Order: sequence, then structure tokens, then C-alpha cells
Amino acid sequence: MADRLRWGILGTGNIARQFSAGVAASRRGALAAVASRQQASADAFAKAFQIPVALGDYAALLARADVDAVYVSLPNSLHHAWTIAALKAGKHVLCEKPFAVTPAEADEMFDVASSAGRVVMEAFMYRCHPQTLAVQQAIADGQIGDVRQVRTSFCYRTTKVAGNVRFDPTLAGGALMDVGCYALSFSRLLLGEPTAGSAAGTVHPTGVDDLCTGWLAFAGGAVASFTVGTGVQANNTAYVCGTEGYIEIPVPWKPPVEGGQYVLAYATPPKQDAPPGGGAAPVPPPRQTVQLPPAGDLYGIEADDFAGHVLDGTPVRVTRADTMGNTVWLERFRKQIGLAY
Ligand SMILES: NC(=O)c1ccc[n+]([C@@H]2O[C@H](COP(=O)([O-])OP(=O)(O)OC[C@H]3O[C@@H](n4cnc5c(N)ncnc54)[C@H](OP(=O)(O)O)[C@@H]3O)[C@@H](O)[C@H]2O)c1
Repeated sequence: MADRLRWGILGTGNIARQFSAGVAASRRGALAAVASRQQASADAFAKAFQIPVALGDYAALLARADVDAVYVSLPNSLHHAWTIAALKAGKHVLCEKPFAVTPAEADEMFDVASSAGRVVMEAFMYRCHPQTLAVQQAIADGQIGDVRQVRTSFCYRTTKVAGNVRFDPTLAGGALMDVGCYALSFSRLLLGEPTAGSAAGTVHPTGVDDLCTGWLAFAGGAVASFTVGTGVQANNTAYVCGTEGYIEIPVPWKPPVEGGQYVLAYATPPKQDAPPGGGAAPVPPPRQTVQLPPAGDLYGIEADDFAGHVLDGTPVRVTRADTMGNTVWLERFRKQIGLAY
């Protein structure tokens, strides 16, 4: 295989554009082909991103020998079928989040990848971003003690309902699927698999949730809570609270291109504990901002990370078990709030 991963892009929507710009800026990726349901969309997309091959048919892209990896950027309900088709065509697949609608679908996708000997992974760009890795390292270094609570939100407001895949239940839209998957992924990344959880949500007239709040409990007593929505605004800061301090991540999901940052903070008053041996407790600075250097294009980082999985065999960032856990809880929460898909 070439030293650059040759990408085929399925779909010409919003995230396909962002990812393709990322591949163009990546060190180890090349844009080989794009496919759309309409030839004209494929042509316009190929022109915008200087992609040599434009196809008006997804299957035609999968048949090409000059494509090593396929990026599935289709609506949620189509991830299963097109990921499987791409794997069976011998392609590696980076499939957008949420990976599948049901755990049974996700299981089948991973089984097909195993049989085909190909890499398949759920595209959670934030997972390979240096900001997330730095926060994980700070926690592993004990900077906030034992993690007891994770608190997240991922909300935005959109008034575009007609023609919006996020408001279409037949495409498995909704806030939980669109952005709740991040809250679940991040909480589980730091705390492991939940032992219990519950959610309450509001169902939009189109039949998808547009607001959802939930909690999760974990072995050892840690808890997580989240709010996600497509009709409400929030600061979307993530908090990781430990016995010795807490971490605040102002932009957890799409870190700033000019450099991620997080805040290491201590409650005020900082500590109630008496220090060992008595005397005055050392008082740490209440807030320290840790500024990280610019990391480059968000999706270029993701494309390079995935190239490492395929070309160098580095372990995937988002494992099968990880994706399965998210898929199971997304389905449970959907059922709890009365969604039919
Ligand atoms: N990782 C991230 O940061 C991120 C951000 C946004 C979205 N996403 C995920 O990416 C996926 C796509 O989201 P998006 O925002 O890019 O959506 P979008 O702008 O609506 O694009 C979806 C594309 O899918 C294709 N498509 C095939 N069948 C379709 C149908 N029945 N209805 C509508 N489109 C159809 C279309 O491409 P053609 O017309 O060219 O065939 C369309 O442009 C979702 O799974 C979403 O969760 C991820």
C-alpha cells in the first residue's frame, strides 16, 4: 500500500466537507474519489477539494481499486449498510458517529470488518485530539485525584427543520444521536462502563428528541450527567471533578485550531482536609489555564491518526467495545424518552 492512505468520500454534506479539507491538510492522506447520490454534487465537491474522481453512485466508489479507505459521512441510519458494503469491497472504513443505530447493527459491522481483515472505527475526532489526550494525561498523573464526577453538555439551536437529517426519525436523527453520543463517549472514556443510567427528553413534532438530560452511575460510586439539545444554547464546557481538584474544558468537542486548553481548578476554599502531621494546608492556585500548542486541522489530525491504524497497525482509538458501549446506552436512552427507533 502507498505511504499515503487514499480516501474515498461517501456523501457531500457538511461533515464530508470538513473532513475532506482535513485530509487535504493531512500528512498521510490523499483524496482519491468522492461519491454522491447526484453526479452534479460529486462534481462540485470534487472541484472544490481537487479530487480526481467524482461519481454519482456510492457503489461505484467502493468498486475502485485506487481507494484504500472510505469515509462514511451519511445520515445515521445509513452507516450500517454502507460501512458493511465498503468493508466487503475490501476498504478500511472510518464511519461517522454515531456508528450504528442499534447494537445488533454495530456488532454486524465489526464482525464483517474482522472477516474482511479491515480496520473499521467510529469517527470521534475529539478522541485523537491533543487536547483530549492532555486531559487524560493530567488525570492519569493524579492532578485532580480520583475522578468522581463528569458533567457535560453539547447543545446548539437550529431552526432548519425541513430537510435536516437531525430532525428525521427515519434517518435516526435527534439530539441524543447527534450530540448525546459525545457526552456518553467522554463519560465512559473517563469512568468506564456505567452500571445504571436514566434520561428524560423532549420529543419534537417530527419524532426525534430535541432536548435530553441524563445521568449515569459507575462502579466505585462515580457519576456523570449530561444535557444535549438541538433547540437550546449552553456553554458546552465539560467538567471532570476529582477528590483533589477539577478540570474544566471550555471547548471539549471541537477544540480551537489555534491550540486547545483546559483549566485545572480547585474548589474555594481549596481544601477542607487537615494536612498530614497538622499545620496549615498548602493552598494551590485556584485556577491554572493549561494552554496547548496549535495542533493543526482537526480532521487532518483524525485522518492521520486513522492512517496510523491502517498503515502502521497502531491500536484504534475507539475500540469495538467502546463503540458497543455507546450504542447500547444510546438505544436505552432513546427507549426511555419514547423514541421509536
Ligand atoms: N464528527 C463530526 O464532527 C460530525 C459533525 C457533523 C456531523 N457528523 C455526522 O456525520 C453524518 C452526516 O452529518 P452531516 O452534518 O454531514 O449531514 P448532511 O450535511 O445532511 O450530509 C449528509 C449527506 O449524506 C448523503 N445522504 C444520503 N442519503 C441521504 C438522505 N436520505 N438524506 C440526506 N442526505 C443523504 C448526502 O450526500 P449526497 O447528496 O452527496 O449523496 C448528504 O449530503 C451524521 O452521521 C453526523 O452524526 C459528524
